[in-house]
Amino acid sequence: MITNKIDINIFKNKIFLMLFMLSSSYLYAAEGGPCKDYGECDVFKYSLNDIESLQRGASTYINYCYGCHSLQYSRWGRVAEDLKIPEDIFFENLVFDKSIKPGDLMIGAMPEDSANWFGVAPPDLTLVSRYKGDDWIYTYLRAYYEDSSKQYGVNNLVYPGTAMPNVLLSLQGNQKLVCKNIPVIARNGGEKRDELGKTITKEKCGFLEVEEGTGQLSKEEFDSLIYDLTNFLVYIGEPSKAARERIGWYVVFYFLIFTALSSLLYREYHKDYNK
Ligand code: HEC
Repeated sequence: MITNKIDINIFKNKIFLMLFMLSSSYLYAAEGGPCKDYGECDVFKYSLNDIESLQRGASTYINYCYGCHSLQYSRWGRVAEDLKIPEDIFFENLVFDKSIKPGDLMIGAMPEDSANWFGVAPPDLTLVSRYKGDDWIYTYLRAYYEDSSKQYGVNNLVYPGTAMPNVLLSLQGNQKLVCKNIPVIARNGGEKRDELGKTITKEKCGFLEVEEGTGQLSKEEFDSLIYDLTNFLVYIGEPSKAARERIGWYVVFYFLIFTALSSLLYREYHKDYNK
């Protein structure tokens, strides 16, 4: 009896500890946020069953990123297969080095001394979505702005002082930090107005705005390009994620059926006891 009580106490303590850990990780997420000067990261929802999005993402990656960033834990053939791109089409259009075979790892095209060019060697990005998070990547790639004090003339709100140039500048256009007049919010949550009923505004800075006509893509097109690119990086970080999630649902479904069946069986057995 006594041991039971102690057991229960230990169990209670464990639950408290778990709740505490959960709540502290929440606090951490809310405070400051990982997206630095940008504030909260934009939310990214991957869709790994959208094969066309992954195909577009792969093509953007190989054309704009692979020159600096390897994907050294993935193989060319596996990517072609997972993204349902016939191997001959894949190799003809996306693999520029003709000596590469489907079984080869995607070790990149960057010479060893690249750290000297940027100050930091461009990291391998196979697992970047796992350690940085997809929200972070999606926001980072859209948060470059003009800053003439920097080596490449750009800086980034999410990763201030990043050593990576804005490689998509020609597509996105010239993004700048601008100031805007925004309505002052009163304590009751509504907009503040003066005696004449006009909304009171104050200047706030730090908004990102693309100079019109400087990029090849519209804002929506550019966002969707980065969506596909991030989606691809989520896929490459865990190629079997889509299958894992699908199987997870089968397992839940199986448990539901199994529970129903066993409760029916239980009722059947129970009848004998009540006789
Ligand atoms: C000209 C070379 C170059 C190209 C091209 C390039 N990057 Fe980078 N990238 C870098 C460097 C250098 C860093 C390291 C920045 C730092 O830590 O300051 C970096 C860092 C990153 C990071 C952060 C990784 C981390 O662990 O902090 C991500 C994400 C990233 N790049 C994504 C991309 C994507 C997506 C593309 C293609 C659109 C791309 N990069 C194209 C050079 C490049």
